[in-house]
Amino acid sequence: MARKWLEADADRTLPVVSPVDGSVIGGVHEYTHDEIDQVFATAQRARARWSARPLTERTDLLHRFADLLAENAAEVADVLMMEVAKACKDAKDEVVRSADYIRHTAEDAKRIIGETQFSDSYPGQARNKLAVVHRVPLGTVLAIPPFNYPVNLAVSKIAPALVTGNAVVLKPPSQGALSALMMCELAYQVGIPPEVLQVVTGRGSRIGDYLVQHPGVDLITFTGSSQTGADLARKAGMVPLLLELGGKDPAIVLGDADLDAAASDIVAGAFSYSGQRCTAVKRVLVIDSVADDLVAKIVERTARLTVGDPRSNAQITPLVDPESAAGAERMTKDAVAAGAVLVHGGGRDGNLVQPTVVDHVTEEMDLAWVEPFAPVLPVIRVRSAAEAIRLANRSEYGLQAAIFTNDIDIAIQIAARLDVGTVQVNGRTARGPDHFPFLGTKASGMGTQGVRPSIEAMTRVKSLVVNLREKDLTTSV
Ligand code: NAP
Ligand code: G3H
Repeated sequence: MARKWLEADADRTLPVVSPVDGSVIGGVHEYTHDEIDQVFATAQRARARWSARPLTERTDLLHRFADLLAENAAEVADVLMMEVAKACKDAKDEVVRSADYIRHTAEDAKRIIGETQFSDSYPGQARNKLAVVHRVPLGTVLAIPPFNYPVNLAVSKIAPALVTGNAVVLKPPSQGALSALMMCELAYQVGIPPEVLQVVTGRGSRIGDYLVQHPGVDLITFTGSSQTGADLARKAGMVPLLLELGGKDPAIVLGDADLDAAASDIVAGAFSYSGQRCTAVKRVLVIDSVADDLVAKIVERTARLTVGDPRSNAQITPLVDPESAAGAERMTKDAVAAGAVLVHGGGRDGNLVQPTVVDHVTEEMDLAWVEPFAPVLPVIRVRSAAEAIRLANRSEYGLQAAIFTNDIDIAIQIAARLDVGTVQVNGRTARGPDHFPFLGTKASGMGTQGVRPSIEAMTRVKSLVVNLREKDLTTSV
């Protein structure tokens, strides 16, 4: 059993520093290559026994894990809040949401049924073969979640992998590792074998390449930046990949939209968790004739956001690192220098970025295309729905898009032309509810997650073909 993080030694301990107050809140062990080899060897030895256990034993364990996680939501959330500067209430919601996800996955796994096929449904074939098609686990799943949902995006990989009989090697984000480890401890407490849920800690930049190229990996499920995802895909070779990557989700607002409702959704979509969500509204494409009204309503709502400490539930909290904050500030300044108009915010104090709205952004500015992962919202004014579609699709990303209009026919026509995984009509871009399929096109990802799609992605079809021989039923057997 490799649970090195429990015995972190001073030499190989990676400190976890809180973005809230700069204090060191813990440390995790930095795994060596040899230790990683041992982890995969242990997983490989343990997984056959795990997948041979009756499905209901695995689902019962997952239910108990979910219950214990929910019971300990406040404790896990406290650590999560300090590790990634997520507002206290949102941190707790993340843990409770994760328990819900585990339960739903356990239930859905029981409803995965195979199929049978006779050969004579294909031209020229007699009815002499029967295929029994069922799903089997892939083996060992390497799960790499990002800092912004260290518990939830770990659980959404772990639960479907375990319930279907895989072993998991979890590489948590360095910022978020403590809460992910607490979550795994709860899994062990209910009886999930540590050998099939192993945790490897250390900086992705140091151990990532070794992990993703390890011969013990049978599937990589990764959520993070498009750059890391693309790099990983190049290195991983012939291993199935599930990639959930970056986004630049547009909110398209048409002339007939309910502007109050649209503004509320846009502000919630752009600024929750300080814009550090792949699905955040990252640009507004608004029809010229209503742009002044919409911007005024967005600014009015943005001005009401509370800014400060996650412990007091502020809505805008410090970003995960000062580099992200400095990058967001630079992008805002560049846009304003090029002619955009700063209509709210723009300030920064260390890694705390004021909620910022920049109007009259144009195609020539980085802010129109780059994902800041910060509370910075660009507004681009357009003349027609066709121009909004063109700008939406010009992005390298294709995660989600939102359309605000009272004309459902137009909404459906626009949605059909948007190259994204999901289009929200009259609602903000968001992943949940978590059993909905979640995917991105282009640089936003590969493969589909959710509950059922994740279960399917972590298993493969296996066919048992019974060759039927004609028997004389009149003679005794
Ligand atoms: P990131 O820097 O790509 O890191 C994501 C994870 O990958 C972390 O666990 C990180 O470990 C690890 N990692 C880093 N370098 C690696 C390497 N060379 N090989 C293997 N793993 C490596 O992303 P992030 O900053 O945590 O998250 C922000 C980005 O993720 C944004 O672009 C956002 O849009 C995207 N995101 C997408 C989704 C989605 O579902 N589409 C969800 C959340 C976030 P360390 O922490 O140790 O560096
Ligand atoms: O950051 C990426 C997450 O998958 C987004 O989830 O839409 O529930 O915030 P969310």
